[in-house]
Amino acid sequence: MNLLVRGGRLVDPANALDGVLDCLVLGGKVAEVGRGLTAPEGTPIVDATGKVVAPGFIDMHVHLREPGYEYKETIATGTRAAALGGFTRVACMANTEPVNDNRAVTDYILAKARQDGWVHVHPVGAVTRGLKGEALAELGELAEAGCVAYSDDGHPVMNAGLLRRALEYVQPFGLPIISHAEDATLMAGGVIHEGVVSTELGLRAIPSAAEEVMVARDIALAELTGSPVHIAHVSTAGAVRLIRSAKSRGLRVTSEVTPHHLLLTEEAVRSFDTNTKMNPPLRSKADREALQEAVADGTLDAVATDHAPHAPAEKEIEYDLAAFGIVGLETAVPLLLHHFVHGGLLDLGTLITRFTVGPARILNLPGGHLGKGADGDLVILDLDQEREVDTASFASKGRNSPFGGWKLRGFVWMTVVGGRVIQQKGILRGGGR
Ligand code: DOR
Repeated sequence: MNLLVRGGRLVDPANALDGVLDCLVLGGKVAEVGRGLTAPEGTPIVDATGKVVAPGFIDMHVHLREPGYEYKETIATGTRAAALGGFTRVACMANTEPVNDNRAVTDYILAKARQDGWVHVHPVGAVTRGLKGEALAELGELAEAGCVAYSDDGHPVMNAGLLRRALEYVQPFGLPIISHAEDATLMAGGVIHEGVVSTELGLRAIPSAAEEVMVARDIALAELTGSPVHIAHVSTAGAVRLIRSAKSRGLRVTSEVTPHHLLLTEEAVRSFDTNTKMNPPLRSKADREALQEAVADGTLDAVATDHAPHAPAEKEIEYDLAAFGIVGLETAVPLLLHHFVHGGLLDLGTLITRFTVGPARILNLPGGHLGKGADGDLVILDLDQEREVDTASFASKGRNSPFGGWKLRGFVWMTVVGGRVIQQKGILRGGGR
């Protein structure tokens, strides 16, 4: 597909570009970025004057739930949500049913994504068979089949010896292991952060140390093996300190943070809204502050949603019993534009970096920049659009968001995949790829 996007402020951190520039896509690939570009006759032209044009965003941590949990989400609905949210690539976690621990499941996900997907889908394979933490999954086969990383996300790999073996074994494949860093013995049935709020509400709690002992262990294993380790959904100030120090020692450790951990604290749980329940839990104000600093200084390489759709019956129940997790694909970008860019906590270029270059480097993905020959995947942002978050209008099957009703300024205006406009002003176009 051909497309000429004209007159927008184009921000492409990978190529150190930030200015009023046009972007020409020919045959689905970026042909040129520059001033006053012209296109072959018949090329659709988008006037992006007053808007921000960036490489399509990448969400390196989503749960698409297919196969097995199609009542929560499917590849079709999850990737529609991604398109609306400005994401042109998503990496989907292995906690499906069956678990993505062998080639047949990866093949299935990729075939479904080709058929139903609105954006690029990159499967993450399991580290251990059935996510049980007992025996290694078919790691070589998963890499060959097209997985971009390994993770038992949702479950920690508690056996350090087994994780060491996994890190050594995957070296020739060059894929990182993504750690869900929560020590199960310290979690011990907890449902919120251990602190004043858990004491006052009388809810079982998860101490910060549950995350920090695992982050420390995983860093030690990255050092021992020399293999890349990525820490998912960092939530505590202590974990940030550990990662910062590991990076300063040159270890191959990367990390991500979710919009909800950047914005909310344990205080939100006082509402007993089960959309404040997730793994890891919302932490203290000091933790939130440390995360905000770390996403600005690059200790946290990527912002990822941990998009975790659940059915109403799994959320509209007692706090203790409700499922962990919230949806994030359709709110992440507006939340960060409003609170971080307009709020003065992050400049636009850094935010775009965390959504593009950061995840692309960690997962060795082809996207995240607009260099000549790159896929013609773009997101166009309207920094001034103001709207209320309406969970009823989500394309995701999941309505489990704590951000319903939030008034935000800064939304995704258009999403382009391979030079094809798949979403404009909240309307999906063209029926997938
Ligand atoms: O809150 C969460 N929900 N955290 C995870 O790590 C897994 C996810 C899920 O699959 O629902």
